[in-house]
Amino acid sequence: MNKINIYNNSYDGSKDLAKILIKEINSIILKKGYCTIGLPTGNSPVKLYEELVNSYKNNLIQFKNVILFNLDEFYPIRKDNKYCYRNYLYDHLLDHVDFNEKNLYFLDSEIKEEKLANYCDLFEKKIIEVGGLDIQVLGIGINGHIGFNEPGSKIESKTRKVKISNESYKTISKDFKETNNIPREALTLGIETILSSYKIYLMAWGNNKSSIIKKAIKGEITSSYPASYLKKHNDVTYFLDEMSSSKL
Ligand code: GLP
Repeated sequence: MNKINIYNNSYDGSKDLAKILIKEINSIILKKGYCTIGLPTGNSPVKLYEELVNSYKNNLIQFKNVILFNLDEFYPIRKDNKYCYRNYLYDHLLDHVDFNEKNLYFLDSEIKEEKLANYCDLFEKKIIEVGGLDIQVLGIGINGHIGFNEPGSKIESKTRKVKISNESYKTISKDFKETNNIPREALTLGIETILSSYKIYLMAWGNNKSSIIKKAIKGEITSSYPASYLKKHNDVTYFLDEMSSSKL
């Protein structure tokens, strides 16, 4: 069943999400020996990752049996570019906890164009091979994108290269401080890939997410707001603060 959790602020929400994820990951590892998780980047999960790192330091969780797939990535972008999402995940989480390198699956931002289609198919196959994603954590764009599944994305879409919409491009530009060289394209898990996860947790904090949260949760299911596809899934929990939930 889909659930909406509303917190006073993003700090409380991130703390609770970390607690829930830890419980979930530990129980899945106890059952089958490993847990597969898809993780997002962006501003929304920063506090969540801080909490996970603190919890690791306090021996509440280990990540050595967690298999990670990153949700999306700029394309093309050099892997040594600090804005590469792969580096974000290292900076905020991976460098501080005990993930095993062999369990990390990143979308390759330097893959040659001619190898791309086959590469994306193999990425999908890899997810299936490990038994699917137990958990997918998501943020949401102000235009309703999840991952980089921009408006217009189809429900049956899989891992692929996409164009970054003008709206997302503008938002992202604010995060790219020292360079104008922002990629216009990206790689992303597809909507179908995301919906195949067993459990989905979506975070949205702040006023600027309130309109899209209303549309995604209360509106019709439409490709105009890809996050609305999540209503087709039976185990999504939305983590909202007072501001992002203010229009519900
Ligand atoms: C970004 C990423 C998404 C992210 C979303 C929200 O551009 N493509 O994976 O979830 O937009 O970002 P933020 O959390 O910074 O608002």
